[in-house]
Amino acid sequence: MTTAWTRKDLLTIRELDRAEIELVLDTARNFKDLLAKPVKKADSLVSRTVVNLFVEPSTRTRTSFELAATHLGADVVSIDSESSSFRKGETLKDTGQVLEAMKADFVILRHSAAGAPQFLAERLNAHLVNAGDGAHEHPTQALLDAFTMRERLGPGRSWNDIHVVICGDILFSRVARSNVWALAKLGARVTLVGPTTLVPDIFAELGVTVAHDFDSVLAEADVIMLLRIQHERQRRSFFPSVGEYVSLFGLNLDRFKACKPNVLIMHPGPINRGVEIASELADGPNSTVLDQVQNGLAIRMAVLHLLGTVKQ
Ligand code: CP
Repeated sequence: MTTAWTRKDLLTIRELDRAEIELVLDTARNFKDLLAKPVKKADSLVSRTVVNLFVEPSTRTRTSFELAATHLGADVVSIDSESSSFRKGETLKDTGQVLEAMKADFVILRHSAAGAPQFLAERLNAHLVNAGDGAHEHPTQALLDAFTMRERLGPGRSWNDIHVVICGDILFSRVARSNVWALAKLGARVTLVGPTTLVPDIFAELGVTVAHDFDSVLAEADVIMLLRIQHERQRRSFFPSVGEYVSLFGLNLDRFKACKPNVLIMHPGPINRGVEIASELADGPNSTVLDQVQNGLAIRMAVLHLLGTVKQ
């Protein structure tokens, strides 16, 4: 891989090219090896300050960015909306400028508004990382998902030979959007599945197949990625009942029997057990759920390390 990282910020997968995605994945491979050692420390961010600004809830992303920055030697501060001056009406721009005045070198932003990371990136010298913006993008999730697929399916397996089925609430999913961009750039085949209200046919314009019958695509899938229903973003009901959704789109043991024996079952979390995925499958040998969490740490170390090589 000859590409050098040149971007100040990581805002979307859409703007990356394949070589940039593969550079992150290859860099993360080295950090995953480091994480297997007793001393999990590198020094590429020593004397740099990383601020995690999470204006929406998070367990995985926030914790792994905190740990990633710490393992790279940075000074790390985390802020959430409940305990910040957002509650007193401070704007995002003012908050960003306050952080920069305190010499923040990186701002990791999760926000409910699509475009919030780009807005702040255009106004700060600090490196901006999008940790999930509304229903728009979640770039590090797609990178850790691609890393996990490559690891579990074998690095020798061609992306052109991999069929990924993403099932669930695509309409409100930033994870789905970032994965569609990443997988399309890598060359994988993608099918989006769910009720017509949550997977409108217009998604086919992204170069993916749209389907509404989960059972019809199970046998062809190398990877099945389940997404939860994002009730927090829905202002009306998009299907008649949870029971009907489970019967049509939940991955249960009967549906699992129709899949390839070595199918990967992925989920970005948090999981709603018994809704989009049966508990036995979430905890079973085909599941990559905890691999994804573990790989998220290596991916976030790689992203922070690569951004840190670029002059602000
Ligand atoms: N997958 C994901 O973004 O999880 P969190 O909301 O816990 O960060």
